[in-house]
Amino acid sequence: MSPIYMLVISITLLLPISTFSLPDCNFPAVFNFGDSNSDTGGLSAMFGQAPPPNGETFFHSPAGRYCDGRVLIDFIAEGLGLPLLSPFLDSMGTNFSHGASFATAGSTIRRQNTTIFQSGYSPISLDIQYAQFNDFMKRSQIIRQKGDVFRNLFPNIDKFSRALYTFDIGQNDLTAGYKLNMSTQEVKAYVPDVISQLTTVVQVRYFLFPIELLQLLRISENLKKK
Ligand SMILES: *[C@@H]1O[C@H](CO)[C@@H](O)[C@H](O)[C@H]1NC(C)=O
Ligand SMILES: *[C@@H]1O[C@H](CO)[C@@H](O)[C@H](O)[C@H]1NC(C)=O
Ligand SMILES: *[C@@H]1O[C@H](CO)[C@@H](O)[C@H](O)[C@H]1NC(C)=O
Repeated sequence: MSPIYMLVISITLLLPISTFSLPDCNFPAVFNFGDSNSDTGGLSAMFGQAPPPNGETFFHSPAGRYCDGRVLIDFIAEGLGLPLLSPFLDSMGTNFSHGASFATAGSTIRRQNTTIFQSGYSPISLDIQYAQFNDFMKRSQIIRQKGDVFRNLFPNIDKFSRALYTFDIGQNDLTAGYKLNMSTQEVKAYVPDVISQLTTVVQVRYFLFPIELLQLLRISENLKKK
């Protein structure tokens, strides 16, 4: 038996035990970063709705997903008992009280040097998605101060520190090289850069985030005083 097979089998055997021994997931919000695997309508909001058969079987109309049914992040939200995630870029009918999706179909980790019209890759690379998240976090707190409906449309600050953060991105970085007619050797050569840029965003999320959150608390305290 090959080592890979053994690994898969031992993980499969361990899974039910560890699943049952873990405490319940209790995330009040989900913030998602990614590509078409988890796009709930970002690219559609920018460039027009994904046409049928997308959306056909579950939503019965275009639903922003490049899929006829739900995408994985929809099942994660449902599993946590949360409504489906609104795409950050959609200006209609969105409700971000329980999180947001920054994913757009065709996104890559690295910035591409081609436009979507040339290559089909989204201009919203992972660093841009993270910048949007950062902006969302700050501005949502300011907008919430308006009260009324705005209070219910955006998460309160402590949801950010208790939220689940999901990343599903990177496959398009590989195909982007092949689309430019690179050899496998050339594609392999830039993989470390892809990994390093992903690592940077995840590290920023974990190490700078607490500082940003503190600054934000101060901003909202000051706003309350006014
Ligand atoms: C885009 O161009 C810059 C400057 O030449 C380069 O550093 C970067 O790696 C390029 N990005 C991609 C995805 O090829
Ligand atoms: C937004 O969704 C939350 C549930 O997550 C709900 O309680 C709230 O009423 C919704 N707000 C609006 C304005 O629909
Ligand atoms: C890649 O090669 C194909 C086939 O030779 C060609 O049609 C296409 O224009 C090339 N693409 C680029 C970006 O050079």
